Amino acid sequence: MKLKTPYFFLILFFLVLSADQFVSTNTNGDFLECVIHNSDNSTSISQVIYTPNNSSYTSVLQFSMNNLRFRSLSTPKPLFIITPVDESQIQTVVHCSKKHGIEIRTRSGGHDFEGLSYVSQLPFVILDLINLRSITIDTQSATAWVQAGATLGELYYAIAQKSRNLGFPGGVWYALGLGGHISGGGYGAMRRKYGLAADNVIDAQFINVQGRILNRKTMGEDLFWAIRGGGGSSFGIILSWKIKLVPVPEKVTVSSIARTLEQNLTKIIHKWQYVAPKIHKDLDIRVLMFSVIDPITGNRTIRATFETLFLGGIDRLLRLMELEFPEIGLTREDCTEMSWIESVVIGSSFTNGEPPEILLNRTAMPKNSFKGKSDFATHPISVEGLEGLWEFYNDKIEAGMALLVLTPYGGRMDEIPESATPFPQRLGSLYMIEYLVVWDGNETSPHISWIRRLYNYMASYVSDSPRAAYLNYNDLDLGVGASYAEASSSWGPKYFKNNFNRLVNVKTLVDPGNFFKHEQSIPTSF
Ligand SMILES: Cc1cc2nc3c(=O)[nH]c(=O)nc-3n(C[C@H](O)[C@H](O)[C@H](O)COP(=O)(O)OP(=O)(O)OC[C@H]3O[C@@H](n4cnc5c(N)ncnc54)[C@H](O)[C@@H]3O)c2cc1C
Ligand SMILES: *[C@@H]1O[C@H](CO)[C@@H](O)[C@H](O)[C@H]1NC(C)=O
Ligand SMILES: *[C@@H]1O[C@H](CO)[C@@H](O)[C@H](O)[C@H]1NC(C)=O
Ligand SMILES: *[C@@H]1O[C@H](CO)[C@@H](O)[C@H](O)[C@H]1NC(C)=O
Ligand SMILES: *[C@@H]1O[C@H](CO)[C@@H](O)[C@H](O)[C@H]1NC(C)=O
Ligand SMILES: *[C@@H]1O[C@H](CO)[C@@H](O)[C@H](O)[C@H]1NC(C)=O
Ligand SMILES: *[C@@H]1O[C@H](CO)[C@@H](O)[C@H](O)[C@H]1NC(C)=O
Ligand SMILES: *[C@@H]1O[C@H](CO)[C@@H](O)[C@H](O)[C@H]1NC(C)=O
Repeated sequence: MKLKTPYFFLILFFLVLSADQFVSTNTNGDFLECVIHNSDNSTSISQVIYTPNNSSYTSVLQFSMNNLRFRSLSTPKPLFIITPVDESQIQTVVHCSKKHGIEIRTRSGGHDFEGLSYVSQLPFVILDLINLRSITIDTQSATAWVQAGATLGELYYAIAQKSRNLGFPGGVWYALGLGGHISGGGYGAMRRKYGLAADNVIDAQFINVQGRILNRKTMGEDLFWAIRGGGGSSFGIILSWKIKLVPVPEKVTVSSIARTLEQNLTKIIHKWQYVAPKIHKDLDIRVLMFSVIDPITGNRTIRATFETLFLGGIDRLLRLMELEFPEIGLTREDCTEMSWIESVVIGSSFTNGEPPEILLNRTAMPKNSFKGKSDFATHPISVEGLEGLWEFYNDKIEAGMALLVLTPYGGRMDEIPESATPFPQRLGSLYMIEYLVVWDGNETSPHISWIRRLYNYMASYVSDSPRAAYLNYNDLDLGVGASYAEASSSWGPKYFKNNFNRLVNVKTLVDPGNFFKHEQSIPTSF
């Protein structure tokens, strides 16, 4: 009997496999037919469906694919890509995908770290919201309705066109899609003053598994809570957000100061840990670090840039820095006053005087292959700990294009309770750490093993029980458990702490059949 069992499973496995393949070839045709038949206007829906036969299929697939790691031939491809132009087309796709057992991956800006918005191991369609990007600003009430397929850059630009005194505290990187970014939290340079993007959402339009269009009132407060930090893709499809715009001064001050290890960088970073999370909430001092060859010594070193955004003028900034962070030696020459929208352009690494219109160009920055991870520091890291971290960046082959970003919290982030949204890293988190390794081409080693070793090294210096991580920097190394038991003992509490169980309860109510799923989607409780 002992020998028979695996053999039996093997046969069963082959049966299931071949049955699957058989079903899926028919399924494709049935799905298409279903979509055409169930749509109000079959002409217009057929104009937004891309089959692998279509000459535009690959370019549509790759346009919003921001991690080139998933461009390889072996990466599974969607059966169809659908780029709906209205809500009814999405409702039709939900209906037919359910009926024919095809998974949906919803894509807004396509920045998912693990490619989850455009890669699945199961037969799937991509619902690409690139055509749903309208933005309506109401300066009177300081609110806006924005469709999920719009980018942050499009939103920031639209706000600036209407007002010099309003802004939005979303991400730094202009090309992020509002569907993924806001539903995963979303931090930017104004988080210490106004919190996350998700903290500034006041209503939403959403399509659930029944294909019904809901708003805040009809979805209820639990689901509305879940999609503001719990990730939209576990629950349904976000069509649009109503957001609160925030006041920004006519002139903000931007500065960027670079220091290397030879310029006392370790000491400055050590002090930064005590200052940046506590300083006035008008001031953000983010640190970006690279491994570089020092042009003077010819030796490898670490170069950090302290990138600041201050919601005020130069004089007040200089007084504040002189008082609280003299070690960095900020001078008037290091600072530039500009409009908020100009600071957004610079924040997205456009430093050659590009006009704000660059924010509308989704392809203005080159793409790479990358792997990222995140941590939260709950206490300052010792000088020895920092020196050990630098060692990893000394490895010139594996860390040649590695980046380390330290993002201080405090201010408004501390004032919002842990349970107010699914994003729990509030009071007690000094700063977030992002590790990123970037390379050309689609091969993966040795960079991924390098970043894993680095992550292991950092374990004793950062938050633990759970070791927290940021959902928008999702990392499948944290576990890919599909069941409640697996998720709750691995990635669940890492992203959400005590909010995980509430997310599970919401999921169980709104999508009990677990139709909206991926490798790290919220499981149902049964
Ligand atoms: C270069 C780069 C810079 C970044 N900078 C920042 C930053 O400054 N601040 C920050 O907080 N984060 C940043 N991120 C992380 C970013 O916020 C997340 O990757 C975010 O999920 C991207 O949203 P998207 O719509 O572009 O991605 P997508 O890949 O389209 O979506 C991400 C996830 O959300 C789901 N989703 C997308 N749209 C919808 C929808 N309409 N309804 C339901 N589910 C949906 C997808 O299915 C997927 O699971 C950065 C990422 C990259 C690659
Ligand atoms: C259907 O859509 C096509 C293309 O968008 C349009 O030309 C046509 O007028 C629409 N027909 C109806 C009945 O709405
Ligand atoms: C590809 O698909 C688009 C959208 O459905 C359609 O407009 C176009 O005619 C198709 N092209 C080819 C070559 O099939
Ligand atoms: C693609 O084209 C092939 C041959 O031209 C055809 O057999 C197949 O049905 C087409 N597939 C789809 C999804 O249109
Ligand atoms: C990497 O990408 C290139 C070009 O897209 C492709 O030719 C090559 O086969 C890919 N390599 C792998 C291992 O998939
Ligand atoms: C580094 O610190 C030492 C001691 O505090 C100081 O004398 C020196 O000038 C600093 N070097 C630089 C480049 O700032
Ligand atoms: C550069 O590195 C070499 C080897 O580690 C060392 O001997 C030398 O002193 C360094 N040069 C400078 C200017 O730091
Ligand atoms: C967007 O930027 C890319 C890269 O710089 C450029 O080639 C392209 O022409 C730009 N597109 C528009 C519409 O300006």
